[in-house]
Amino acid sequence: MGAAALSIRDSAAADRARGQYLVEALGACDNCHTPRGSGGYDYAARFSGGSQTFSGNGYAVRGSNISPDKETGVGGWSDEALGAAIVAGVGRDGQLAPVMPSDSYRALTKDDLDAIISFLRAAAPVRTQPAQPPQRHGEWAPHPLPGAEAPFDDAALSNKIKRGLYVASIARCLSCHSGEKDDAPDHVSRLGAGGKIFRTPGGVAVASNISAHQEKGLGAWSSEEIARAITQGVSRNGDPLKPPMSTLAKAHFAKMSTEDLDALVAYLRTIPPKE
Ligand code: HEC
Ligand code: HEC
Repeated sequence: MGAAALSIRDSAAADRARGQYLVEALGACDNCHTPRGSGGYDYAARFSGGSQTFSGNGYAVRGSNISPDKETGVGGWSDEALGAAIVAGVGRDGQLAPVMPSDSYRALTKDDLDAIISFLRAAAPVRTQPAQPPQRHGEWAPHPLPGAEAPFDDAALSNKIKRGLYVASIARCLSCHSGEKDDAPDHVSRLGAGGKIFRTPGGVAVASNISAHQEKGLGAWSSEEIARAITQGVSRNGDPLKPPMSTLAKAHFAKMSTEDLDALVAYLRTIPPKE
């Protein structure tokens, strides 16, 4: 094989590795698209659809089969159609319910979106029962994180704070940790203020204030304490955090690179203090 062919193969492998990182450490796609067994994700059926049904104002949907099965998954979709679903929430029959966090993925650089698509395409096709038609009525206004409404370019990622914003967007930190107005995150006046309530089989949890407020937020935490909460799911005093944070921390954010984690912590410190 010639050097050119080899380097194409190397770059395809590098793409898939980057895609795997984005899917696992930041995007947490398995969280909604891979079924769970008693021991966690059922990786033998990876990306074949999530176990939980999400109901909200105007919809009742399940994370779809995004494995490459041609009939019951997305194997027959073009790259353009997959990209539009991921970053613009365009589904096969209209706008996807807002549970699919496309708003958070709008920031993806072109290369990163391509990398995610090539990683998904390399997964094993899993055939499932055809999904129930999704129930959706209405339209949902987008709520991207300010500054992350459009694709980033590679240059932005070498700026530490911008890189941290990129990581926070794709990892959906502020979609959960901002105060809500009309059932949607209020990224303007309640950015990072916390207060959203989560009911999971593990109990009820209230999203914490992660703004830079000295008493109510993370203002007085050391960077190591913040990084530990994100990657190990423990609070400042070492107490375990509840799901969904603990699950995301252990199954996903624990895989974050040091560079991304440092950038994320630096960005969090720029979130103006909220009561
Ligand atoms: C918080 C849950 C959640 C996360 C995280 C999530 N998704 Fe989704 N996704 C959904 C739901 C629910 C749907 C179906 C929405 C509907 O039918 O209206 C969906 C739909 C999709 C679709 C359209 C498929 C189809 O058949 O219509 C694609 C493609 C997709 N997601 C890819 C991804 C990728 C890639 C990631 C990670 C980068 C991801 N999703 C993360 C919940 C999620
Ligand atoms: C699906 C929603 C969700 C996502 C996504 C999420 N969190 Fe959380 N997070 C929570 C909840 C709920 C809690 C409170 C857990 C508890 O009370 O035990 C929490 C707790 C925390 C804490 C501990 C605060 C304290 O006072 O103990 C930190 C720090 C934190 N999250 C940061 C982040 C960061 C940074 C991200 C993105 C990388 C993130 N979270 C993503 C829901 C989420």
